[in-house]
Amino acid sequence: MPPANWLLESPETDPALYPLILERCSSCTNLQLAFCLSAEVLYSHYYYITPDSISLTRHYRWLIDFMFHGGYLAADSDVLEIGSNRGAFLKELSPHVGSTLGVDPAENVVGVARRSGVETLCDYFDLSVAKRIAARSKPPSVFFARHCMAHNEFPQRMLEGVSHLLPDDGILVIENNYAAHMVRDSEFDQVYHEHMFYYSVTSLSELLRRSGLRIIDVVLTDLHGGSIVVFAVTADSRRSTAQTVPRLIDEERGTLSPSRIADFSSQASVIRDGLQSTIRKLSEAGNSLAAYGATAKGATLLNFCSLTARDITACADSTYIKQGRFIPGAGIPIIAEGTLFEAPPDYLLLTAWNYKDELIAKVRSAGARDVKFIIPIPSVEIVE
Ligand code: TMP
Repeated sequence: MPPANWLLESPETDPALYPLILERCSSCTNLQLAFCLSAEVLYSHYYYITPDSISLTRHYRWLIDFMFHGGYLAADSDVLEIGSNRGAFLKELSPHVGSTLGVDPAENVVGVARRSGVETLCDYFDLSVAKRIAARSKPPSVFFARHCMAHNEFPQRMLEGVSHLLPDDGILVIENNYAAHMVRDSEFDQVYHEHMFYYSVTSLSELLRRSGLRIIDVVLTDLHGGSIVVFAVTADSRRSTAQTVPRLIDEERGTLSPSRIADFSSQASVIRDGLQSTIRKLSEAGNSLAAYGATAKGATLLNFCSLTARDITACADSTYIKQGRFIPGAGIPIIAEGTLFEAPPDYLLLTAWNYKDELIAKVRSAGARDVKFIIPIPSVEIVE
């Protein structure tokens, strides 16, 4: 597979291909890639900029509220977010807390964060960055690592930095796609080179334990097709552990068993066959087709299903740096949403199916009333 976010300058460019193999660790049940591309190769120029999204903003507000009610955040909390991207979450949080600081390795994205007033260090958060932060200001007591740990081949280095700074009354919040829901809902398109780890409560507990941290609570959310929000503290913290933690670990013995992983693999082929035949039939009947959301997931889905610009003429995306480029392998041009709304196709494949309701509402409110939607995951479905 080509690295999903290596958006090409021309459709002809042959993308570099690398093995994309998902393995299951038999000791901690973690799902992980057998082959990881180096961070330099993956992130030298990063195309993922957190979109403006009603569902994301709603989620940020829920999380902030939950943490205030749970006593994890206070008006004087100093907060650090690892993998803060353009600072969308910190912008929502900053009016409610003492201070915020973002850390992110992607230069172009950090530039966007700084220009919008979110203080951000451009780096990979690890022990040396943690020491630098401790030397220059009052260390933070609340840490967030939202949807970034899976992208890090050496998560223990990041956790070493957190452990160095985290006080016993502090909290680390990790948000990640939930492996058990990915498997349950046949979300094989979550597998791409940037996602090196597919965490469960079992595997995260083990990883955190090795860094002197322990999970005290887990909340399941619908975000990005099913995510876990994990609350962790130092091993010495006096906070008690919610029943959800052992319950989910117990459930994962079944939900992430080898036989479930084998079903997940065969479901991927069922979806591929279903999507290919649906698209073939619609094209033969003279329908026009486009996609919505030039996501990394989309690159896996399209390439796995051998769908190209011959099948899908364009893919709309709100991220301006993606527009004018091409999805690697599939060679599909990425266009602005406005261009899509000006000449809507008969069918839209929702490659960003994780924003399904939001995207359908956006298309409808742009006046494209007749467009029908193809939802690929968890099973191929057409929404009229
Ligand atoms: P993600 O699923 O990895 O967050 O990526 C979502 C992609 O979908 C991202 O490239 C932005 C795009 N998008 C739109 O084009 N319009 C929208 O309204 C939203 C919410 C996302």
